[in-house]
Amino acid sequence: MIKNVSVIGAGTMGNGIAHVFAQAGYAVVLVDVAAAQLEKAVKTIEKNLDRQLAKGSITGEQKKQTLQQITIETDLQKGVTAADLVVEAATENESVKLELFKQLDAAAPEHCVLATNTSSISVTKIAAVTKRPGQVIGMHFMNPVPVMKLVEVINGYATWAEVSGMIIGLSEQLGKIPAVANDYPGFIANRILMPMINEAVYSLYEGVAGVEAIDTIMKLGMAHPMGPLQLADFIGLDVCLSILNVLHKGLGNPKYAPCPLLVNMVASGRLGMKSGEGFYTYAHGTKELVVSEKFR
Ligand code: NAI
Repeated sequence: MIKNVSVIGAGTMGNGIAHVFAQAGYAVVLVDVAAAQLEKAVKTIEKNLDRQLAKGSITGEQKKQTLQQITIETDLQKGVTAADLVVEAATENESVKLELFKQLDAAAPEHCVLATNTSSISVTKIAAVTKRPGQVIGMHFMNPVPVMKLVEVINGYATWAEVSGMIIGLSEQLGKIPAVANDYPGFIANRILMPMINEAVYSLYEGVAGVEAIDTIMKLGMAHPMGPLQLADFIGLDVCLSILNVLHKGLGNPKYAPCPLLVNMVASGRLGMKSGEGFYTYAHGTKELVVSEKFR
């Protein structure tokens, strides 16, 4: 039975994952190498709980209890000694994750399941560096975690069926809707989303339409809540590029090759919302969508 959950990485995704587990009553240890990230994550969780409180979806008591369920830790080993489940949400970098899973395998109890929130790195490859590949699985939450319902559950080549079943049940208990995919490059979410984003960038690059027209057509024509270029900015253009590279390399089909415009934007530091500029520009404190000068 899962009681103690350790979340590794306290960035964008880690704070949301800690939030939903704590809210469902699990004891959560949030671990990060950077103490400042941990402090920031706790503040973000508090802010997001306040938002839920203002909407009336939780009570003040529930907010207090949720925060009490979370402890923070910078020492990985200490952070996982009592874990029944680890959810890794550290930086999307293969060598970081492989090293991390070796350490997790050595430090976590034998029964502990090791899940990764990776967007694109092979779950099978991650599992292979551990002595418990049957207990390694993908648990891919969507951003923002407290709001988005989906958990893409990714079975590695060696994942045991009972571990997959447990993660499916657990996702439902968190109030999420799990959907299962097998471990091939990009799984399902990014295998379908990233080529769409790439095609939108190609349409801009080739002058088929401007930023606003592309996003408006996809929003109003396909009932997408955000256009693909705005979504790319939200995800991070560097993240999109790295996932496209994984698809391209892993599936070997030139149709996944990232658009040269996307490559150039990332090389020039235009990473979307987080850097203040991508296809749109983001001024602090305003929600208005302004197309970047480059594309006007
Ligand atoms: P982020 O860059 O916001 O946070 C990563 C955190 O991991 C940082 O706080 C960093 O200090 C920490 N970290 C790095 N190495 C570590 C280590 N060895 N031990 C402990 N902590 C370590 O990244 P983000 O966006 O939260 O992504 C995390 C994971 O979630 C990635 O695998 C990413 O692909 C995946 N993901 C991201 C989504 C997004 O929209 N940002 C959506 C779905 C999945």
